[in-house]
Amino acid sequence: MLTVRAPATSANLGSGFDVFGVALERPADVVRLSRADRTTIEVTGAGSQFIPEDPEKNTVGAVADALDAPAHIEIDKGVRPASGLGSSAASAAAAAVGLNELYDRGHSREELVPIAAKGEAVVSGDAHDDNVAPSIMGGFTIATEAGVRQVDASIPLVACLPDIVVSTRDARRVVPETARVEQLVETVGNAATLTTGMHRDDPELVGEGMHDTVVTPSRAKLIDGYEEVREAALSAGATGVTISGAGPTVIAACEETRQRAIASTMLDTFGDRGIDARVYQTRIGRGARVF
Ligand code: HSE
Repeated sequence: MLTVRAPATSANLGSGFDVFGVALERPADVVRLSRADRTTIEVTGAGSQFIPEDPEKNTVGAVADALDAPAHIEIDKGVRPASGLGSSAASAAAAAVGLNELYDRGHSREELVPIAAKGEAVVSGDAHDDNVAPSIMGGFTIATEAGVRQVDASIPLVACLPDIVVSTRDARRVVPETARVEQLVETVGNAATLTTGMHRDDPELVGEGMHDTVVTPSRAKLIDGYEEVREAALSAGATGVTISGAGPTVIAACEETRQRAIASTMLDTFGDRGIDARVYQTRIGRGARVF
């Protein structure tokens, strides 16, 4: 039997829609896997009542199929589904890394990314590498058709998850079909600034590079209180604030000394609107680990 801890992730980071992602030190899914004649799945933990245990409908079932690696798989969810924190990707990443080892398949971490993305497609209807890539490889990842580039970075982050449900399918429906060339120019500048910030471990540059006028404004309308929470976090010292993945988590980059104040004001601001929330004071961390 193997145990794998695969981290939650935050995709997009504003300017890197469907391309950028980071692994978070916490929360994480913990997945136990043992060889079996056919795949069976048990799910416990955060939001487990909403997750199907049928291997045909669960992310990890698709991963087991892709690796031809049937197993009994117990998933302890630390990452709530529909949170914008790569919940299904964390389970898929854990399964890919664990089954690769359990069956001695010999795939590299990078080769496991598209395999885990097949699992993602079971729940999102589309394969995105931007959550599975950081959950498998750790750090900051740039996932494109050409493959995955990875940067080890350690930027402090605050992720605030309100008690609101935003489905990835709904959040994708509101993405504009076109953008103006001025927005394209601005996005390229911001994405390059953010990437430089990751290389330098510089929260100022990362925060500045999170700015996005193409996708984030439409999605923000799905998150009650987003603008107020963003303003409050910036006033408390966040260097940048955006929607994590498809939402509803709101994520802030900052210096470590500002984390506590930012976490507290984000919670209070959602609270003022009658919305319960939970907050993770975290940072960019490692990819999936096998125990
Ligand atoms: N990049 C994806 C999105 C992440 O924002 O829709 C969620 O799968």
